[in-house]
Amino acid sequence: MKPVLDGTVALVTGASSGIGAATAAALAAQGAAVTLAARRRDRLEALAAGIRDQGGTALVLESDITDEQQATDAVARTVAELGRLDTLINNAGVMLLGPAAGAPLPEWQQMVELNVLGLLYCAHAALPHLLRAAEDSPRRVADMVNISSVAGRVARTGNNVYSLTKHGVGAFSESLRQEVTRRYVRVSLVEPGATATELASHNRPEVLQSISNQFGQRMEADDIADAITYIVTRPRHVTINEILIRPTEQER
Ligand SMILES: NC(=O)c1ccc[n+]([C@@H]2O[C@H](COP(=O)([O-])OP(=O)(O)OC[C@H]3O[C@@H](n4cnc5c(N)ncnc54)[C@H](OP(=O)(O)O)[C@@H]3O)[C@@H](O)[C@H]2O)c1
Repeated sequence: MKPVLDGTVALVTGASSGIGAATAAALAAQGAAVTLAARRRDRLEALAAGIRDQGGTALVLESDITDEQQATDAVARTVAELGRLDTLINNAGVMLLGPAAGAPLPEWQQMVELNVLGLLYCAHAALPHLLRAAEDSPRRVADMVNISSVAGRVARTGNNVYSLTKHGVGAFSESLRQEVTRRYVRVSLVEPGATATELASHNRPEVLQSISNQFGQRMEADDIADAITYIVTRPRHVTINEILIRPTEQER
């Protein structure tokens, strides 16, 4: 039997580590040709080599998606080199926590530029291709999966601007879902809880220290990749609108 995503093309942002890397590998295993986009080329090349060893197709794009042109180019090059775009996984993100009072403004700017604007640049550039894929592909359906967070559902002390960006991702996703669902572009939101990736490591040492006891049990990046794979492999008439997924021991 052919794998479900055979003949389809997926673009994964933030594919150089964590959830993005696991998702790109999982989609390739389902038969999708994948574009791996992020800034660290060496990581992307290593992942691409692993996918090709398994008989898959991977395109490496060194891209900083906070730059509108680079985000737009990532979509355009995917379509030019792999022929189409059926699936966009808007995953790249950064989480810089800590009290709002006295927070370094560049941290807030970085989160808005990546988690909000970077995602929007990719979504905007991808939409015409996703709408076309939903019309003319063998599956006649296309997917945009936006990665939010538990922090996109509930704001808590110290999450302030990270929570703002993820609430924004949720609002955009729901509005877009309503706009395009009858055209068979499925827009889905994934809201992970604590997952063992590099995400927290970008925080200032004093913040890292204060949040280290907040995180107990963690999921693996593969657990989230599994949820994303489930979303994009549903039959045409089924859309998974939203998945909130926590490690079992995470209470809040
Ligand atoms: N881990 C968790 O507990 C958790 C929980 C809830 C939600 N999430 C969300 O899951 C998503 C993935 O995060 P992760 O946990 O897998 O963390 P991660 O391992 O730190 O991955 C983040 C990815 O984003 C990429 N990235 C950062 N800046 C970028 C830029 N300017 N342009 C393009 N790519 C950029 C990074 O690659 P380069 O540095 O190579 O560019 C990396 O591949 C994020 O949206 C995060 O908010 C994670």
